[in-house]
Amino acid sequence: MTDTNTTPDPVLVEFDNGIAFVTLNRPEKRNAMNPKLNMRMLEVLDELEADDRCGVLVLRGAGQSWSAGMDLKEYFRENDGKGRAAVLKSRRQSGGWWNRLMYFEKPTIAMVNGWCFGGAFTPLVSCDLAIAADEATFGLSEINWGILPGGNVTRAVAEVMNHRDSLYYIMTGETFGGQKAREMGLVNESVPLADLETRVRTLCASLLEKNPTVLKAAKDTFKRVRNMPWEQADDYIYAKLEQMLFLDKSNGRAEGLKQFLDDKTYRPGLGAYKR
Ligand code: ACO
Repeated sequence: MTDTNTTPDPVLVEFDNGIAFVTLNRPEKRNAMNPKLNMRMLEVLDELEADDRCGVLVLRGAGQSWSAGMDLKEYFRENDGKGRAAVLKSRRQSGGWWNRLMYFEKPTIAMVNGWCFGGAFTPLVSCDLAIAADEATFGLSEINWGILPGGNVTRAVAEVMNHRDSLYYIMTGETFGGQKAREMGLVNESVPLADLETRVRTLCASLLEKNPTVLKAAKDTFKRVRNMPWEQADDYIYAKLEQMLFLDKSNGRAEGLKQFLDDKTYRPGLGAYKR
């Protein structure tokens, strides 16, 4: 996955034992998302979806930042100068990869290694899971420079944080660290930066043991049914479950039952069946 231009690839991909580490790679700009990075992320997600080396996708940032949000110069000021069509196109590109991430075929983990501002909250929440460094700094800084959190950031915040906390940070623009992000439900866990990669790798190992078809169905089902009324949710869940059984050519459900009931080789309450 190399760039044809002379500038460094704004997104790097490295594979390691089933994990695809996707690195936002503009450290000199604190990994702010410019149009080039957004277009590249769309390509990378397409490529990884079909790549068997990617069992879990980990999204991280190069250097001391996860992402400083949208590129205020290239995404905002320069697009403003090009007219409305350019603004709309640029929005589609960023929103495009964030939406793809939300329902990506493989499990996704945000590994928040540093600064995380504004627009970065949408890909953060689009990832299925998020592990932060205690030292990371988060902020809904939009208010500080004169806008409200667009790019679905307001919706993303409302998805995972409560009413009071959301409004507090939307309205004050104050920063907070990894532990506070965990307390508010913005991330699953926060660990010292020195332990961040190890913790993420352990989580990846757990996910890689599971049946990938079932993982995809389970996460999509959760994300979709939470806004449905009870009866539609019940019906959708069964439809998804039956679709999942059809798609799972490994016949995992029967194998899981066999290994517990007949072979007695594992206990489903305590771990996954052997694939
Ligand atoms: N957009 C464009 N350029 C940026 C951004 C950004 N979001 N963030 C950092 N940069 C650039 C700086 O302009 C600077 O460029 P230069 O070297 O050409 O002058 C370079 O990255 C380094 O930035 P510094 O501010 O010098 O780095 P420092 O480590 O001191 O501070 C911090 C990091 C706190 C992240 C700071 O850069 C910052 O506040 N950035 C803006 C964060 C923000 O509010 N993002 C927008 C959120 S709202 C939205 O996304 C819609």
